[in-house]
Amino acid sequence: MSADSHPQAQSQHTGGLLASLKTVFRLPNDDPRKTIAVALVLCLACSVVVSATAVSLRPLQERNAARALKSEVVKVAGLDSAGMSLDQAFERIEQRLVDLETGELIADANPMTYSYRDAAKNPTMSSALDEAGRAGLQRRPDRMPVYLVRQDGQLETIILPVYGAGLWSTMHGLLALAPDGRTAKALTFYEQRETAGLGSEVAGERWLSEWPGKVLIDQAGQPVIEVVKGSVDPGAPNAEHRVDGLSGATLTSNGVTNLMRFWLGEQGYGPFLNRLRDNHRG
Ligand SMILES: Cc1cc2nc3c(=O)[nH]c(=O)nc-3n(C[C@H](O)[C@H](O)[C@H](O)COP(=O)(O)O)c2cc1C
Repeated sequence: MSADSHPQAQSQHTGGLLASLKTVFRLPNDDPRKTIAVALVLCLACSVVVSATAVSLRPLQERNAARALKSEVVKVAGLDSAGMSLDQAFERIEQRLVDLETGELIADANPMTYSYRDAAKNPTMSSALDEAGRAGLQRRPDRMPVYLVRQDGQLETIILPVYGAGLWSTMHGLLALAPDGRTAKALTFYEQRETAGLGSEVAGERWLSEWPGKVLIDQAGQPVIEVVKGSVDPGAPNAEHRVDGLSGATLTSNGVTNLMRFWLGEQGYGPFLNRLRDNHRG
């Protein structure tokens, strides 16, 4: 044990510090050493208060974040106007974790305690991505949550968390698909920090209302959705695969195309959606 870590040595240090403080506080008020000491003690006291507050508020923040996510899932599932409380509506939604590699739902996993954001930072729970087509992501979690809505036992809606780089921020959203595993029912971006009035319109009702009915994946299982620059010609043969770009925010719009193609593709939910389509056909 070093001399410093000995309890007796530590109490001598503390006593010495208190004695020095007392000496400094006995100095006249206009002594610069006293001014500096008072400022230092005040800073220390404030930082202790701020840290203690941050630590004690963390569980509350986590509860609020979980509730906010529940509310987004319920909204994108179209259950927010069904006359149920948030908890009642959320209970109608089956939460699962999917193994992205195999596309299988994992039987023994608890999606409530799983954070895909934490998983993406953990090398044992995520995979590094190649440069091409990775939507600005370095790693991809090996498992992702999915939310399934059933009506009388029949799959009605599949909700997939999606995220990727915009111009300034990582945009996090939820995509609701029809049981064909290909057609969009709704989209929401509940977290993004793009420029207000430009890229942030990605989370605006008007732009998001263009998504229902768009066919995101072709018959061969390839993601084909594209947010185009300008407006989509409704008469064009591929109009069902295209969404109007956000004006003055082509880079944010491209970010949406990239993240959609990533998450609906082979490295994202592709294997899961293939299985789902096989079951839907069968
Ligand atoms: C202050 C400022 C903020 C901007 N914010 C965004 C943004 O959030 N998303 C975006 O795509 N482009 C943003 N842009 C514009 C881009 O730099 C780029 O010009 C634009 O994406 C091109 O889109 P357009 O071809 O539709 O004009 C911003 C530009 C400025 C000067």
